[in-house]
Amino acid sequence: MWRRAFLVVCVTFLAATVAAQEVRSKDGPGKAEVEELAWITVGADAFETLKEHEDAFAASRPLSRFGEVPGVVLTRVRLDDLDAISVVLHEAYRRCPGFVRHWTLADARRALDALAAPPAREPEAYTIDQPQAVARLTAAIEKPQILETIERLSTDFNNRYHLHPSGTAAALWIRDQWLAYAAGRPDVTVELFDHASTDQPSVILTIAGVTIPEEVVVLGGHLDSTSFNGGGTGNPNFIAPGADDDASGIAVLSEVVRVAMVENFHPQRTVSFMAYAAEEVGLWGSDEIAAAYQAAGVDVVAVLQQDMTDYFGSDEDIGLINDHTTPALTAFLGQLLDAYQPDLVWSLTACGYGCSDHASWNDRGFPAAFSFESLFGEHNPEIHTVDDTLATLGNNVDHAAKFTRLAVAFMVEIAKEWFEPDIFADGFESGDTSAWSATVP
Ligand code: BES
Ligand code: ZN
Repeated sequence: MWRRAFLVVCVTFLAATVAAQEVRSKDGPGKAEVEELAWITVGADAFETLKEHEDAFAASRPLSRFGEVPGVVLTRVRLDDLDAISVVLHEAYRRCPGFVRHWTLADARRALDALAAPPAREPEAYTIDQPQAVARLTAAIEKPQILETIERLSTDFNNRYHLHPSGTAAALWIRDQWLAYAAGRPDVTVELFDHASTDQPSVILTIAGVTIPEEVVVLGGHLDSTSFNGGGTGNPNFIAPGADDDASGIAVLSEVVRVAMVENFHPQRTVSFMAYAAEEVGLWGSDEIAAAYQAAGVDVVAVLQQDMTDYFGSDEDIGLINDHTTPALTAFLGQLLDAYQPDLVWSLTACGYGCSDHASWNDRGFPAAFSFESLFGEHNPEIHTVDDTLATLGNNVDHAAKFTRLAVAFMVEIAKEWFEPDIFADGFESGDTSAWSATVP
């Protein structure tokens, strides 16, 4: 039954994307749009499947390879065929929509180049040596806080679609929450990131690293939502609660921010929390941010994505996404789970396409990882519907709490806690001596 729902979701997503393309193209449409053509990249397996079904895409026939890197093919199709292509790929691979659309040939080639290129920065060996800091922050996690954030976002802002005023109001609400948590911390900034592609801003909270500020750890999730049966994205009464997708990811981030502030956490490396705009229409917010960071040469050492954290749909507790992610960082997430939540079962799983904001970073050569609520395909069947509510999540955040603990461990172990050097070695004049011991395993 939900298989059919997914087909509708894919198709509706495409309609929304096509309808929104003028908004995206502030610089004017690419040649492909003018000719009603679309550049898409698909898995090499998917390309072979599409070739087999070529007769179904009369307008696009014959499908040609315009570029290729191992595992991915760039092709060009008619806009009119995108829905049918999505249906075939969903049937064959449960991918949704199963391709990534690029606005121009140049964009598509850049994306292929990024996939072919080795990571811009080989991640350094990640280490686990902060058990006391992780324990201290973890003990401060409060499930009611996580629940409250999901509830507020999915009810007070039950339409966070990027084109809707309520989508921008939600961004301002998140900014204000984070500002309140950060009160009294001059080393913490909270800012809106304005986009060229949409009026919905992203929100970025940054804790300045004390000793290695140039190295940045990013934790992100998307603040927008969508729904195929919520009354139409152009409708002022459109409903898209997005409790799991992705209020649950924002709630995890907010709780990590809160405990970092409550526990007076000062990192050695800079830590940035990002609530991305306009993910649901093609990763636009994270794409612009990752591009800006790349252009500015920011040294992002690790990115963790939180998208859908509160639906317990598999035997495994946590799925670690292993496509469009960095193997060494994904392996480190597994080590963090084994070290700090040994009772949890995790497994690798693939989206099959750039399904969330981790891809924006990964595809530009930044180390990225994505912890997900289930194995792909066993996730919340109500996403992108009016029933993606807290009720569907059982009105509790037991599952999201696992992701919050993992995100705390990720932040602490990669950024590492900093303590004021104790110049009085005998300890008589020292500040927080318990804090010193936190660095000793
Ligand atoms: N949270 C979903 C992605 C997702 C769905 C991951 C199901 C794993 C299982 C995300 O918000 C989304 O819908 N992404 C788009 C990506 C596209 C716009 C590039 C999608 O999957 O269609
Ligand atoms: Zn999502």
